[in-house]
Amino acid sequence: MSPLPLILDCDPGVDDAVALALAFGARDRLNLLGVTTTAGNVALAKTTRNACLIRQIAGREDVPIHAGLAKPLAREAILADDFHGPEGLGHYPSAEPRIGATSAAAIEFLIQTIEAAPPNTVSLAVTGPMTNIAALIQKAPDTARRLREIVIMGGARREGGNITASAEYNIYADPEAADIVFKSAGNIIVFGLDATHQVRGTKAWVDAMNALGTPIAKLAADMLAFSNALPANLMDTTEPDQPATGAPLHDPCVIAYLLAPEAFQLRPCRIEVETQSTLTRGHTAIEFREAVAGAFNANWVSKADPAVVLSLLLRYLA
Ligand code: BDR
Ligand code: CA
Repeated sequence: MSPLPLILDCDPGVDDAVALALAFGARDRLNLLGVTTTAGNVALAKTTRNACLIRQIAGREDVPIHAGLAKPLAREAILADDFHGPEGLGHYPSAEPRIGATSAAAIEFLIQTIEAAPPNTVSLAVTGPMTNIAALIQKAPDTARRLREIVIMGGARREGGNITASAEYNIYADPEAADIVFKSAGNIIVFGLDATHQVRGTKAWVDAMNALGTPIAKLAADMLAFSNALPANLMDTTEPDQPATGAPLHDPCVIAYLLAPEAFQLRPCRIEVETQSTLTRGHTAIEFREAVAGAFNANWVSKADPAVVLSLLLRYLA
């Protein structure tokens, strides 16, 4: 099987860093055409620097990185540095990378790259607020329709929110962008908190990654350990059947899905995003009943197999 052409749009971020490490590592399975960055967990200059630094540590300077939009479509940026540390990579020393981003023109890069490939071949993974993707859809809707799939980390249903009672961070940070993406009629697969809370970076995972001994595995282990040391009220879920034995590994699930889709269960659904209310900003209303939904616009991941995610990480960080 030839490697899957992929673009990763991200806001590193400790869990984005692990997702990037996995995507950089899986070179036999993923043809990583480029990485685009967005403002999110920390400001754009920092997410871009962090992506370049992770690329360097992974030894993948062949992959271009393009900075995207510095602000959500219609609002001021809201950072999540409580969860990621002031520089975005936890306690990891923030050095300037040897090589920076290729350009600050992520949207143009997306358009050119998707247009250059045959239709329905390029996958897009999105692990931050969907600002860049919404801008792509607004600027070049026909280009966006050429994507094979858009695999997103964002939203919450059964689990409730993690930034407010109702909302998951990536959707909350730019609800207008999420709304545009869900209305775009693409093939959309969504890893909300219901799925990512099933994949937790336990101490055993941290130890196993550290034992690999490679610089990129050590970085990933550091990211998990940082998240695991967060105050319990930041990482806990209130679900009694999901004890918080480690912080959720949200963003790596997206890359794991591209590598092993059989490890996840999907349910067709309709997703609508709240953009008006102050109280429930960024809430994802997810309807599984087709008769009520009208038409489905996404696939919601309902079940994830954490053992598969761990084995992929161990394989590709080695
Ligand atoms: C999402 O929000 C960010 O803080 C993480 O990187 C992840 O993409 C989880 O809600
Ligand atoms: Ca992220």
